[in-house]
Amino acid sequence: NKPSLSQCYNLMDFEAVAKGVMKKTAWGYYSSASDDEITLRENRSAYQRLWFRPRILVDVTNISLNTKMLSTLTSMPFYVTATALGKLGHPEGEVVLTRAANMHGVIQMIPTLASCSFGEIVDAATDKQTQWFQLYVNKDREVTKKIVQHAEKRGCKALFITVDAPQLGRREKDMRSKFGGEGSSVQKDDDGVDRSQGAARAISSFIDPGLSWKDLPWFRSITSMPILLKGVQCVEDVVRAAKDPNVDGLVLSNHGGRQLDFAPSAIELLAEVMPVLKAQGLERKLEIFVDGGVRRGTDILKAMCLGAKGVGIGRPFLYAMSGYGQDGVERAMQLLRDELEMGMRLLGCATIEELGPHLLDTRSLGQH
Ligand code: FNR
Repeated sequence: NKPSLSQCYNLMDFEAVAKGVMKKTAWGYYSSASDDEITLRENRSAYQRLWFRPRILVDVTNISLNTKMLSTLTSMPFYVTATALGKLGHPEGEVVLTRAANMHGVIQMIPTLASCSFGEIVDAATDKQTQWFQLYVNKDREVTKKIVQHAEKRGCKALFITVDAPQLGRREKDMRSKFGGEGSSVQKDDDGVDRSQGAARAISSFIDPGLSWKDLPWFRSITSMPILLKGVQCVEDVVRAAKDPNVDGLVLSNHGGRQLDFAPSAIELLAEVMPVLKAQGLERKLEIFVDGGVRRGTDILKAMCLGAKGVGIGRPFLYAMSGYGQDGVERAMQLLRDELEMGMRLLGCATIEELGPHLLDTRSLGQH
């Protein structure tokens, strides 16, 4: 009794379908967030405290959603962000996202912890597609160097170093469903990986908690890809990154609420950050992206109004893939395209460049 794809009218509909069709362990891994999931909830509710200031009598016959992210011209102002373990949702895993992204001219960020091999995901892309690479930094820097240089050699156009995960967050839904041993009391499998703490903990033991600002010159020395920090959560760190010659951009993100609970939403942080960067003359130094809780075209427009270069979307595409494979992801992207076009028209903007803070009322933003 799964609804047909044409009965999915928005991105939330895919979540309901996924919950119904996915294995409990897989659902637990995708949907969970840390502790009481307050940040997860806040990621949605922050967008709901922002109101538009629509303009009338603007010629909106033709709407263009084209925009540039990190020098790449892209068809819409969002990208598929990195999410681990794609095969929990679909037997073919991340390449499903690659193919759907190609159909819509959307950029994909490849995760270090993909289920498919890196090569499979790169091979699945067409020549005109752009892929970025998300890096979890291995304690063994020789391994890290190999991974990064291989990504560059295979054509990845940017390096996103995840900086919000020196330890993976405690996601109780994921732990309760005991990934790898549903219903069993087995704590360790044959491979010696302790899965009793859920999927997230099982796969993350190699990540280096010693990673620090001091490592950034080294990254600059091993790659010429733009370097971005994914998971910046505080204005002071944004300013520091802006002054660091090794950083080209960042993603304001709380990892979809999966790391520190009570970390702020990216959109609220963006509203705080942009005026500070401007006041210090640093606003052109970095390309700033946001992710977390983006579910509607209007959410994307709000982020673009506040100065983001683009937004990342995670779970909705995983859910669409889990429910309907590539067709589902394509439909999710089409729904966003339709919502973006309508939103722009009703807001009185024909191009992405016309979006700006003058179109937003942020007065309610600080009221939690
Ligand atoms: C993630 N995210 C993530 N981030 C990262 O840097 N490396 C990773 O391996 C993963 N893996 C991952 C798995 C799953 C199942 C989820 C839901 C998320 C975080 C991701 O890149 C992004 O920050 C959030 O998903 C954005 O929030 P939404 O769009 O899911 O609300």
